[in-house]
Amino acid sequence: MYRSHTCGELRETHINTKVILSGWVQKTRDKGFVVWIDLRDRYGITQLVFDEDRTSSKLIEQARSLGREFVVQINGTVIERASKNPNIPTGNIEVLVEELTVLNESETPPFTIENETDGGEDIRMKYRYLDIRRNPVKENLIFRSKVSMEVRKYLSNEGFIEVETPYLIKSTPEGARDFVVPSRMNKGQFYALPQSPQTFKQLLMIGGMDKYFQIVKCFRDEDLRADRQPEFTQIDCEMAFVEQEDILNAFEGLTKHLLKEIKGVEIDSFPRMSYDDAMRKYGNDKPDIRFGMEFGELNAVAQHKDFGVFNNAELVVGIAVPGANSYTRKEIDKLIDWVRRPQVGALGMVYSRCNDDGSFKSSVDKFYDQEDLAKWAEVTGAKAGDLICVLSGDANKVRTQLSALRMELAERLGLRNAEEFAPLWVVDFPLLELDEETGHYHAMHHPFTSPKPGQLKLLDTDPGAVKANAYDLVLNGNEIGGGSIRIHDKEMQSTMFKHLGFTPEEAKAQFGFLMDAFQYGAPPHGGIAFGLDRLVAILGGQETIRDFIAFPKNNSGRDVMIDAPAAIDDEQLKELNLKLDI
Ligand code: AMO
Repeated sequence: MYRSHTCGELRETHINTKVILSGWVQKTRDKGFVVWIDLRDRYGITQLVFDEDRTSSKLIEQARSLGREFVVQINGTVIERASKNPNIPTGNIEVLVEELTVLNESETPPFTIENETDGGEDIRMKYRYLDIRRNPVKENLIFRSKVSMEVRKYLSNEGFIEVETPYLIKSTPEGARDFVVPSRMNKGQFYALPQSPQTFKQLLMIGGMDKYFQIVKCFRDEDLRADRQPEFTQIDCEMAFVEQEDILNAFEGLTKHLLKEIKGVEIDSFPRMSYDDAMRKYGNDKPDIRFGMEFGELNAVAQHKDFGVFNNAELVVGIAVPGANSYTRKEIDKLIDWVRRPQVGALGMVYSRCNDDGSFKSSVDKFYDQEDLAKWAEVTGAKAGDLICVLSGDANKVRTQLSALRMELAERLGLRNAEEFAPLWVVDFPLLELDEETGHYHAMHHPFTSPKPGQLKLLDTDPGAVKANAYDLVLNGNEIGGGSIRIHDKEMQSTMFKHLGFTPEEAKAQFGFLMDAFQYGAPPHGGIAFGLDRLVAILGGQETIRDFIAFPKNNSGRDVMIDAPAAIDDEQLKELNLKLDI
């Protein structure tokens, strides 16, 4: 037997009990006549004691020889600690060691295995198995497991069946590039790894499965950010015989359940906002509604004066930053530099201070009098003590820029409270999105999304105006899920492919299997997929998903621990009929 108890388990009630513990040496303190060792496992830390009065000198010597991270097993007796440690649950006791076995030695770890480590990101990624021994990483993985369990529990109770779908498939377009896998047996041919199980879950509905879910890996070759990994996990769901309303209700239920079980938070309000409103009010299709700073469009009150910059702009738009009139001139200049960074890209920023006496002081006083500025305050909802920040230019660009500024200021002002949860459904997304570079439309969600009833005709005349039965679930400014009601009719799907620029032959080659299936009694259906990594990170009060993934990739898509991706040898290339030209 390696252990009778864990290192997090022993309390005063165990005093005088004989125990066997196994774990890692966290720390040794040697006072000469007494040696203490902190023994760690997944469950906690227990103090071991060796002293001259009660321990043989051979055993003390053995204890002294242990290095950090040695794996040891001990037999001993639980005793009361002389100086108690109220900071850990086992702090009232220690174990007087009677026998010590080294199960394995360890090199000195390249960074300290403590809550606050001295190891940088790169070294911790390289030795991820050591990083996982640290509490913050370990706790995140345990937290993730708990969320997954609750998801399974809830959906199973609701009658959803978990079905696994294949990983070696043909491209499923979700807007990123595919990772591909060469086939040895079918020379010159490739599988694609799924960007999502989209087409398979639709086929399951045609197969009569009715309510499906799967916690599933998805693969997307796209630029990485804090909330994106090349392989990530979805809670993928689909239901048959449902309308949008049914889906929203079903997954509000799941989200409520998770917030309650995981965070102890009861949330009843799942407001809905149209995509158009989200863009107009927040410049963003995933607004963080935990705080205000809604956009105020100022064209009517700021144009047609003598200020050329505003007169020439498509949109003049501002936000009232609460309490920011206290910013010094220097701080405001820094803010202006911030919006002018290439990552944000604004040309400049106009501001108006809202003084306590009701007067205003703006950076464009030359062009605007107090009455004008009072209207700015009215439109942006500014109060005394606020600072109105105004950007202008091309409508789409300026909305994105002001949205970035809004989020930055909210962060600086501490308005993004990680323990407050504000879900929001964003609905009525456009069906199609114009690719500025190619001039072609592509599906904003994916090509299987149905247009709003009655809008099909608009596809010929004004494709950009067609709205979709598509929705996103936003939590605290992060898109945690997205889905749609699908097309289940062959003709409509063909029309959609045509508008997306597929020839009938291309559509057949790529999606013939789905179009064929539609001919055999496809039920009306729809669904949603949550990003599990994102959901877990946000419930855990963070936004970087890497910290909640056991073995994540770095920003260049590399696993630095196993050193992947890597070259393959000539023999393997030959077998796969691949020639490299690099
Ligand atoms: P979508 O592409 O919106 O929809 O993806 C669903 C959710 O998955 C998460 N997500 C990611 N998480 C981490 N890293 C990534 N690279 C990444 N990409 C997406 C997001 C997102 O909301 N098949 C459809 C769903 C459906 O229509 O039912 C789909 O995949 O949280």
